[in-house]
Amino acid sequence: MREFRKVKVDLGDKSYHVHIGENIVDLLPEIISPFVTRKKIFLVSDEAVGSTILPRVRKILEDSGFELSVILVPSGEKSKNFEQLQILLSELLDNNIERRDIVIALGGGVIGDLVGFASSILYRGINFIQIPTTLLAQVDSSIGGKTAINVKQGKNLVGSFHQPKIVVADVNFLSTLSLREVKAGFAEVIKYAVLGDRSFFDWLSENSKKLLKLNTESLIHAIETSCKMKAKIVKEDEYEQGKRVLLNLGHTFGHAFEKSVNTNGEGQSILHGEAIGIGICLAAKLSEDFEESNIEDSIAIEKLVADFGLPTNILDISKNLKISEVIKFMKHDKKRSDDKNTLILLKGIGEAFIHNDVKDKDLARFLNNQGLKK
Ligand SMILES: NC(=O)c1ccc[n+]([C@@H]2O[C@H](COP(=O)([O-])OP(=O)(O)OC[C@H]3O[C@@H](n4cnc5c(N)ncnc54)[C@H](O)[C@@H]3O)[C@@H](O)[C@H]2O)c1
Repeated sequence: MREFRKVKVDLGDKSYHVHIGENIVDLLPEIISPFVTRKKIFLVSDEAVGSTILPRVRKILEDSGFELSVILVPSGEKSKNFEQLQILLSELLDNNIERRDIVIALGGGVIGDLVGFASSILYRGINFIQIPTTLLAQVDSSIGGKTAINVKQGKNLVGSFHQPKIVVADVNFLSTLSLREVKAGFAEVIKYAVLGDRSFFDWLSENSKKLLKLNTESLIHAIETSCKMKAKIVKEDEYEQGKRVLLNLGHTFGHAFEKSVNTNGEGQSILHGEAIGIGICLAAKLSEDFEESNIEDSIAIEKLVADFGLPTNILDISKNLKISEVIKFMKHDKKRSDDKNTLILLKGIGEAFIHNDVKDKDLARFLNNQGLKK
């Protein structure tokens, strides 16, 4: 029997469900029907997903009588910018989108973030649906309503909070994803375990091989557990005024590495999830420096990240990163310019906390001890 799960993101009149399952996309017409006001639907995807998953989704919707207006954007992070946002908005308007129409975002975190942001500003906000097709998007970016584009000063600095009407996560979509992207997605799954659930951490340690082979039952459990944790935190703090910041575990380091490697890395590249995996390992080590966490937990975290085939050390990706540049990007990420940095640290596995006062000099010393250049 096919397994379907439903996780509620409880936000009062903005509540919605994350539908998770094997071939759950077959039920799409039924799932979206409460939110469509006419037979015309707008669907935005990227070129890679356009040639793999889109034909099936299109057939399912067209067989149910929907007329689809499809817009494709180039694949990858480079599409999360003002230029693509403008092109997308123009195409939606040229195709006569109306205030009460719905837009489907079919793709990874890039499509979800771009389409979510476009939906939040078009006609001052229209409804959208997330159909995440990467593991990262299924466990993280499609849930919680954060939308954004990147600007030259840093990642995700221009955006909005705009919740989707539904999220539909079909685990079968992951079979066309490259193994590198699958591994990168597990970094966000590991994040949930490390920040708040020791028993999930142990379960991930025992099931890493099955998960990397995309065992359906294990995947559904990992995605559902991750979504539940995200939904719980988002419910308590939708606009990131407090507890939601915990979800940034590994991200302040990670975003800075993404930015530095992908702009100045002399040919190397790093995926978001890979950067986050390294960032989580560093957050654990920095917690030791602050005498909050112990070395055994740092070793266990590093082992779990490595078990999922992810890099654990930024020097394995690039030996040329400068401490000053990394710290500069860390500041943009957290929108601060004084010498204090906010980082998510650990008291141990499953116990993250917010440290609001990590000084530049302590950060520089720490990064130097990790082998980064001054
Ligand atoms: N909004 C949030 O809360 C949030 C949270 C985490 C990450 N993010 C953002 O998400 C982005 C990263 O997301 P991502 O890792 O999904 O990247 P992505 O959207 O670029 O997808 C990765 C690659 O996989 C391809 N792809 C997607 N699904 C596929 C499939 N099923 N089969 C084959 N190829 C497929 C895409 O075309 C792309 O080339 C970053 O921009 C990050 O900032 C946002």
